[in-house]
Amino acid sequence: MRLVKGFKVSALVAMAIPAMLALTAITTLADASPSRTTALPGDPSRGATLYAQNCTACHGANLEGGIGAVLNPIDKLPGVANPLDPTVLIGIITNGRVHQPGDPRQKDMPLKGGNPNLTDQDVKDLAAYIIVQNQINPNSLPLAAGELAKRTIFWVSIGILSMLFVTFLLAQYNMRWIARRAAARRR
Ligand code: HEC
Repeated sequence: MRLVKGFKVSALVAMAIPAMLALTAITTLADASPSRTTALPGDPSRGATLYAQNCTACHGANLEGGIGAVLNPIDKLPGVANPLDPTVLIGIITNGRVHQPGDPRQKDMPLKGGNPNLTDQDVKDLAAYIIVQNQINPNSLPLAAGELAKRTIFWVSIGILSMLFVTFLLAQYNMRWIARRAAARRR
């Protein structure tokens, strides 16, 4: 009976460790995969040409920013949850944006970058180009401080809890083993 119980506990320990490793691996991979992928609103290669013609003066040839905001890794403007959301991009490009307190650039983005001839399709292609460029370097989108803190606390808690769990299982196993030895000695 005892032997069977002891075996169960050690089997649990043997399973818990690889299970923890697998869990960590899966969650890390899930986090690293481009989860920000959304369907592209337009044709990024057309967008690249339009960008070169209309936007480089303020946003730089490589989207590195200048008079205008940095577009890769895209600046997070206060009040904008996800600056790579196609709707957000299309909105800003179409309507421009009046700068707000806390924006990295204290300048306004002109409507359609100052070129009223851009069509709705042009704007969508531009948005697609900006999204693709950010995805080529997806980890470059910096996490907000609060988000980073949350993730750190989450993973450290998981680590501590699983260590407690493994310690608990080992202690159980140990006690059974001591009891077995004591019983054997008494015999
Ligand atoms: C005259 C300069 C100028 C031109 C030309 C211009 N922009 Fe901007 N753009 C800005 C400024 C300044 C901002 C920041 C506005 C703010 O802080 O609210 C900005 C912001 C943006 C943003 C929001 C960035 C973010 O971090 O969310 C996008 C997207 C954008 N521009 C796209 C474009 C595209 C596409 C073009 C070309 C069609 C273009 N811009 C042309 C000045 C410009």
